[in-house]
Amino acid sequence: MKKYLIIANWKMTPNSSKEATELLSATASAAKKIRNVKVVVCPPFVYLRLFSKNSKVGLGGQDVFWEEAGSYTGEISAKMLKSVGVQYVIIGHSERRRLGETNEMINRKIKQAFKYGLKVIFCVGEFERDESENYLQFVKEEVIKGLEQISAKLFKNLIVAYEPIWAISSAKKFGKGFFHPDTPENAFQMSTYIKRVIVSAFSKNAGSVPILYGGSVDAKNAADFLVKGNVDGLLVGRTSWNAKEFGELLKNVNKI
Ligand code: PGA
Repeated sequence: MKKYLIIANWKMTPNSSKEATELLSATASAAKKIRNVKVVVCPPFVYLRLFSKNSKVGLGGQDVFWEEAGSYTGEISAKMLKSVGVQYVIIGHSERRRLGETNEMINRKIKQAFKYGLKVIFCVGEFERDESENYLQFVKEEVIKGLEQISAKLFKNLIVAYEPIWAISSAKKFGKGFFHPDTPENAFQMSTYIKRVIVSAFSKNAGSVPILYGGSVDAKNAADFLVKGNVDGLLVGRTSWNAKEFGELLKNVNKI
């Protein structure tokens, strides 16, 4: 049976450790009943310690810094993440790129995360889907620059999340004026395209790197993305902030 990887990206929510503990325990008990899914929760850093002992779900960070240690105010190292039981880390999310993170910084972060054996959820995606298809080149460049000079042997710890920026719920807040999910058909095309890029740029053995879709995934569209979109899992933002909705999403995936 295929196991889908469902990443819950809590972003900067919830507001207190009490709420975080409640959301985690509701999420974990929903996940426990689902056989074809591996759930990974990525809470804000301050809540990671609360979660280290919950074995029902995987634990992920939302970012990592590229240096080992030292005078880097506000940053969190890969070693620190490992020391509190983190196994996964999101790198290159568009909400971080928007704050100035470049492909080069992302590349350094990925190298550092791999050095400590973290599984990297590497996010790529275009701002807009233009008719002349420049977005294909844009995504290709993100993939290639992000993975530059990394041995393909380490790709066993690589997961790529394709998240078209215009489809992420935060696109609305940042002035696009609308957001809506991509279609499963496009997600299929883009995940195939990204796989081809990785295989031709890095290694013919890299075809097994899992590709996720993210951007306005909810209980209604999740199964379609997995089946028609043929992706290996989902990166879920807003829907994961509500245990009931996230539980519905998992139940629908379990029907596949
Ligand atoms: P969304 O976020 O599901 O709220 O659109 C996805 C993401 O940014 O990872």
